[in-house]
Formats: sequence, C-alpha cells, structure tokens
Amino acid sequence: MKKIIEVKDLYKVYKMGEEKIYALKNINLEIHKNEIVTLLGASGSGKSTLLNILAGLEKPTKGKVNIGGITISSLNEKNITKFRQLNIGFIFQSYNLISSLTALENVELSLMLKGVNKKVRKDKSMKILYDVGLGKRLNHKPTEMSGGQQQRVSIARALVDNPKIVFADEPTGNLDSKTSREILEIITGLVQTHEQTLILVTHDNNIAKFGNKVITLNDGSVENIKNSRELI
Ligand SMILES: Nc1ncnc2c1ncn2[C@@H]1O[C@H](COP(=O)(O)OP(=O)(O)OP(=O)(O)O)[C@@H](O)[C@H]1O
Ligand SMILES: [Mg+2]
Repeated sequence: MKKIIEVKDLYKVYKMGEEKIYALKNINLEIHKNEIVTLLGASGSGKSTLLNILAGLEKPTKGKVNIGGITISSLNEKNITKFRQLNIGFIFQSYNLISSLTALENVELSLMLKGVNKKVRKDKSMKILYDVGLGKRLNHKPTEMSGGQQQRVSIARALVDNPKIVFADEPTGNLDSKTSREILEIITGLVQTHEQTLILVTHDNNIAKFGNKVITLNDGSVENIKNSRELI
C-alpha cells in the first residue's frame, strides 16, 4: 500500500514556566493510503497533540510530518491553511456547530469558505447529509437535534468536500454506546467508500478495534503498533 503520512523524530515540548512538558517524544510512524488507524492511549498520553500536529493544526517542536510528499511541518500559516482545506477533514468530540444555522447551512458553510458556488454547495451538502442519515433533518438547528445527530452534521461537514485524510478526536466521547457504534460505522463506512484514510483517537479498546491498525501511545511515546485483530 502507498504511504500517505510519514512522521520522523517528532517531539512536542510545552514550556510551563521553568518546567518542560514532553507531550510527544521521538515519534516515528507511517500511515498508508486507505488505512483506518486508531490512536489509543490513556488521558494525557499525547493522542490529541499528535493528531493536531498530523492535521497541521499545531507545529511540532522538532521533527517532520510529511503528507503525500509535502513536509507540512515546514509550511507557513497561509500554505498550511490551504493544504488543510484541500486535503483534510477534522471531526471533534464537541460538535462545534454554529447554533444559528441549520444542519444544511452548517455543512454548506465549509464549502462557502472555499468559494464553491451556491448550487454545487447545496447539492454536495444535501448528498452527504443523506449519506449520514440526516435527510429528514436538513433544516433543523443544532438545539433541535440529538447529540448523535449533531455529530452526524459535523461528520458531513468534515467529509463534504471529499478530503484525502480524515482525522477524528474521540468523536463519540459524548455519546452512549449504541449511538457511538452507529457513528463509528458511519465514519468508517464513508471513508472506505470514498477511499480515504482515517486516523481516529480513542482511549477505548473496543473503539480501537474499528481500525485496521492500532498505534498505542504511552506518556508521549509510541508503545506499540498492532494489527487490530491482535487486541484483546
Ligand atoms: N497547550 C498545552 N500546554 C501545556 N501542556 C499541554 C498543552 N496541551 C497538552 N499539554 C500536555 O501534553 C500532554 C498530552 O496532552 P494531550 O491533550 O495530547 O493528551 P490526550 O492523550 O489527548 O488526553 P485526553 O485523552 O485526556 O484527551 C498532557 O500532559 C498535557 O497536559
Ligand atoms: Mg485528547
């Protein structure tokens, strides 16, 4: 399989007064196209920090992140924003929807910011909202939807422009186990259909099994990388 992400000697150090916090230490890994990778680890192990750096939302202190031949850790703010818009979708634990906008408008907004014309915007947004099972909730505002439905809107928003890589940070952290399973099935189903690469953060072994590959972090370092079938 083709390599899509390569991480070399990555460190993230936060300075808190005199103290240095090593959030990530000497991370080296490769992620291949169409893989579903889960990042597993206890609270504080560095999962979100790593995900944010891979997605270009944060800069590493040291080391390199290469995505599809581009060293994103060296790009300036303007180019990294453009790179993210073209290649990356991000799903957060909190849905981050705009409360005054409907489901359809929330999804359309991300395309509007990229200058996509009105008709294409609406067609693409409606299609993906149907795909996540919200065809009957297009005109509902966030407060008029359940948590699971709001997360589906944010999935639609992340996937509407067919990004090559999808990042998800504990996307089911606020949901019950049945809804969590439904949401994970929607995300993994869609990324497989669209031949995307998914990197999903979780602290839960059962959720990690949704991946083909599980990278376990411990105290900022990679503890091991396993095939998900090897998980107990
Ligand atoms: N902005 C920051 N400033 C200082 N320290 C930080 C900052 N962000 C994260 N850290 C520290 O880096 C470490 C890793 O944090 P991170 O948020 O990546 O953990 P996590 O694995 O995502 O945890 P959780 O499961 O609780 O979300 C922690 O020790 C945290 O306190
Ligand atoms: Mg986190």
